[in-house]
Amino acid sequence: MNLLITGGCGFIGSHFIEHLLRHHPDYKVVNLDAMTYAAHPQTKEFLQNLAPSRYSFVHGDIGSALVGEIIKTHDIDTIVNFAAESHVDRSILDPGSFVQTNVVGVQNLLYWARKLGNVRFVQVSTDEVYGSLEPSDASFTEHSHLVPSSPYSASKACADLLALSCFRTFRQEIVITRCSNNFGPRQFPEKLLPLVIANALEGKSIPVYGDGRQVRDWIFVADHCKAIDQVMHQGKLGEVYNISSNQEVPNLEIISKILQILDKPASLITFVKDRPAHDRRYALNSNKIRQQLGWVPATGFEEGLSRTIHWYIENSAWWKQLRDKAFFDYYTANYKAKFTPEAKL
Ligand SMILES: NC(=O)c1ccc[n+]([C@@H]2O[C@H](COP(=O)([O-])OP(=O)(O)OC[C@H]3O[C@@H](n4cnc5c(N)ncnc54)[C@H](O)[C@@H]3O)[C@@H](O)[C@H]2O)c1
Repeated sequence: MNLLITGGCGFIGSHFIEHLLRHHPDYKVVNLDAMTYAAHPQTKEFLQNLAPSRYSFVHGDIGSALVGEIIKTHDIDTIVNFAAESHVDRSILDPGSFVQTNVVGVQNLLYWARKLGNVRFVQVSTDEVYGSLEPSDASFTEHSHLVPSSPYSASKACADLLALSCFRTFRQEIVITRCSNNFGPRQFPEKLLPLVIANALEGKSIPVYGDGRQVRDWIFVADHCKAIDQVMHQGKLGEVYNISSNQEVPNLEIISKILQILDKPASLITFVKDRPAHDRRYALNSNKIRQQLGWVPATGFEEGLSRTIHWYIENSAWWKQLRDKAFFDYYTANYKAKFTPEAKL
């Protein structure tokens, strides 16, 4: 197979490329990434060194004509789209950039996939498109309504619907995965787990939204990648597959566990005003992918957490560098925003 992986220098995309190169020795991979604040230059080099003859990197935007050039030049037969603006808090500050990448960018990928010979398209989506559950509610199935709460989840839901419409209208080869919260090495330290680990290691306070009792359904990133691989090969076209390890844990419980493992005091926890429209609980029913494709997760929550914490301890230069780069990019972006108002969209 010749694959175009987008957003491959981000957290999950980089693990997926690593998975492909290690498990499919005859596959070739092109990674298209815009190298936003969330992408680490070292990840680019790390992937390059894994299989130099089967991997290439293109710096660019999924919303550009570069997509067509890559498909033609590399004879691409499959696109797996990880490229996204992915942080809910940032989507509240700047919804326009989320629509630009997560909706307009996906429309552009779909267009080129269709125009150049019906390239198979795997859209990597999220459980957040379903909205929030009450504690007593049953978990979301693939038939649950889409009730996104944030500009991030709304933009992802929009991309899912666009992709499904291309299956119905143009008979494009589309499959969609919706996964729960991922954790593991190489995640940007603005997301809950790496933020808590990084702040705890530095003895900094750990901001916790509201009462901290929000529940998330956690999956180790390698299990997510294995599931995408199976959906890409065996998934039924035009279908959605939920991916979950069924590991629901309240935020406060995870934070306390991390502090305990790192032998840091609970006094680092600082409760802050809750995020607007903060989803209370996510839980996914993943019976479909388990029963139809035989997928099973391999990593339990405790084991995954321990591996993740050790990675952050051993790679402090990595996340500190990424955090500093993001700080710089944030101010650059704010400066640019003055001249490119959202209304232009
Ligand atoms: N992190 C999770 O827990 C989770 C759970 C379910 C689904 N997802 C989905 O998985 C995908 C990857 O998430 P992640 O956590 O790895 O995100 P991330 O923020 O770590 O990485 C996103 C990558 O996309 C790149 N990118 C952004 N805009 C781009 C553009 N216009 N063109 C090309 N590249 C661009 C960035 O440079 C970065 O490398 C996203 O689509 C997200 O919605 C994430």
